[in-house]
Amino acid sequence: MTRNIKQLVSQMTLEEKAAMCSGADFWTTKANDRLDIPAVMLTDGPHGLRKQAEGADHLGLTNSVPATCFPSAAGLACTWDEGLLQEVGQALGVESRAEGVAVLLGPGTNIKRSPLCGRNFEYFSEDPYLASRLAAAHIRGVQSQDVGASLKHFAVNNQEHRRMTVDAQVDERTLREIYLAAFEYAVKEAQPWTVMCSYNQVNGTFAAEHPYLLTDVLRQEWGFKGFVVSDWGAVNQRVPGLQAGMDLEMPGSGGINDAKIVQAVRSGELAVEVLDTAVERILRVFYQFLDSEVGTVTFDQRAHHQLARRVAAESAVLLQNNDALLPLASDSSIALIGAFAEQPRYQGSGSSRVNPTQLETLKEELEKYLDGSGELHYAPGFSLEEDSHDDALLEEAVRCARTGKTVVLCLGLPHAFESEGFDRTHMRLPNNQLAVLDAITRIKNDIVVVLSGGSPVEMPWAGHVKSILNCYLGGQAAGGAAADVLMGAVNPAGRLAETYPVRLQDNPSYLNFPGEGDVVQYREGVFVGYRYYDAKEVRPLFAFGHGLSYTEFELSNLRLDKEQGTDKDVFTVSVDVTNVGQRAGQEVVQLYVAAEKSSVVRPPKELRAFAKVAVEPGQTVTVNMTLDRRAFAYYSASAKDWWIESGCYGIMVGHASDNLPLQTSIQISSSQESRPVFHRNSTLGDLLQSPYAREAGLQLLQGMLAGMGMDPAKALDGVDSDPMGAIVKDMPLRCLVNFGRGRFTDEQLTGLLQQINA
Ligand code: BGC
Repeated sequence: MTRNIKQLVSQMTLEEKAAMCSGADFWTTKANDRLDIPAVMLTDGPHGLRKQAEGADHLGLTNSVPATCFPSAAGLACTWDEGLLQEVGQALGVESRAEGVAVLLGPGTNIKRSPLCGRNFEYFSEDPYLASRLAAAHIRGVQSQDVGASLKHFAVNNQEHRRMTVDAQVDERTLREIYLAAFEYAVKEAQPWTVMCSYNQVNGTFAAEHPYLLTDVLRQEWGFKGFVVSDWGAVNQRVPGLQAGMDLEMPGSGGINDAKIVQAVRSGELAVEVLDTAVERILRVFYQFLDSEVGTVTFDQRAHHQLARRVAAESAVLLQNNDALLPLASDSSIALIGAFAEQPRYQGSGSSRVNPTQLETLKEELEKYLDGSGELHYAPGFSLEEDSHDDALLEEAVRCARTGKTVVLCLGLPHAFESEGFDRTHMRLPNNQLAVLDAITRIKNDIVVVLSGGSPVEMPWAGHVKSILNCYLGGQAAGGAAADVLMGAVNPAGRLAETYPVRLQDNPSYLNFPGEGDVVQYREGVFVGYRYYDAKEVRPLFAFGHGLSYTEFELSNLRLDKEQGTDKDVFTVSVDVTNVGQRAGQEVVQLYVAAEKSSVVRPPKELRAFAKVAVEPGQTVTVNMTLDRRAFAYYSASAKDWWIESGCYGIMVGHASDNLPLQTSIQISSSQESRPVFHRNSTLGDLLQSPYAREAGLQLLQGMLAGMGMDPAKALDGVDSDPMGAIVKDMPLRCLVNFGRGRFTDEQLTGLLQQINA
């Protein structure tokens, strides 16, 4: 059914239009009975439906209808699997449909700048390429059910500390290459029905009233067609917000801001066309949902739970597995220690908190795996409510550890340690958990740590345990999924989507997080995550992209469809993946591009493609990845465009950011060569470097040097090593007039500049 939205809007009074631009309550918009426009519901999101049954708050306090709780984004990201994310999105879309929800608030694709951000569990990665791909897949899945996604929080919302007022100050190149890039592909490729603007300010302007972000970039450049919704309570000034492109205010202001909009139109401050456009955008999305109503939708809770378990198992990252301690045999004697085994930490706190349809525990699920000869002893070891250790619990844990051959120790971040609303202040595990760990490492060798939590912890103890399985927040089937991996029913294939530093101080944002007062400066620039650790050669505990398998893969035969081309070409990179181990498994092939030379400071390498493949033992599978112009570009703030320099680009392919055995290179000749404009303060060196001015520069230099009694040929050769040559090279042209004592005049300089700039 095609609806004439413009005509519908033309029938509305000014007050009715203004009313469409804000919510009636926490989760619904206002109906218009006169024009037969129903109210619609928007609700969280992102990794499960949180439709509140009664009462309302956006802090996750009031219970919601039962829904499947999938792993949160931090875990989902470790799958590096767009197909799987799309499947999850689709299931979320079906559940939203079943509950009559028009827009599901998610995914969140903000960059993990610091491991301390309390909401990192809801975000994908420190890398914008990976984050944006996964966000796109999530959106495609949800919207395949004619339910809208809401890509959030746009933009530069990378901390919880003072999140509603803080000003994130970030230079334009960093903004484009890192923080906006996390949204860009998802917007362009998946067209979310809505984008949620963030609470914070970006370079001095609230995101909710930021014309550059909401109109110039989002709509004009990226072609976003949906509406922008405010994060809940993010509106600062309503009228400038509307003007900037912020269409729907949630949850609404009880009419206060609607009245301001009406007043602004009446006084001529706000053009009515701006309001009309916002209402059109909002109604177009609502009717996309309403007109696709297909009758009653139900969903198969069991099937969705199975999907949640499959995805959780795929999210788990095997960080370490010394002596191949894992997988465990079904006749193992296991001492299972840690309260998480019975009270799993499977989702984060705050607005994304889902009421799960069921909940698996590791204890119950491990028991199911053990056959008659296996045994399982359990002790909680510590309390999840407090940090100080309890001697009785500790002693019981030690006794339990002695009863089993292998200790499976469940550690992690309890709810109180990380949440929406605040950031962590350190990266350590709670003291009571460390005490148990310490006691057990003194008496046992075969220890497997199963970690849960939404973000990295420091692991000074990693060398004292054999295996570490990182489960992030695995959703309602986290327990079963962990058992599947521990017992080898699933071969782990998760890869880290963020770096695990040895210690917090190593993180690039350490000195500038969470800022001073209401200002946080992103001084590390584009050097976020592995971009920094690589550049500074700071060895992380576990690198970006790292993750082990129960089998082994060899990569070989790296080849290109062409070794050189222009900035407009698309390159295909192929590589063979062979499973040289005994089990079927999945490898994530990662491709990084490295500019060998650049006029700007660039990270040593950047992720530009990846592919996940399933390979049987002994089998070889070929993977093809493509690189388009963006793979080679940086953002030039002066050109206001993505920029590619001619030159050689390293292509590095492998298993993880710190394990890239195959390398080749591509030679690019770019059509974007910038032609600088020379002026009195350009240096002789600048002239010599430019193909347009080199000849003139040489002549000038030779004249100057000869005049100064120097050997021009020698000085030119050793321009960097010969002190005099180096000094002359960095002289501004105007100095040549003064030093030339008449041999080179101001008039000649002007003439020369005209000639080379022509
Ligand atoms: C959060 C959003 C969420 C909204 C509605 C806000 O506090 O930042 O992510 O979608 O509440 O619950």
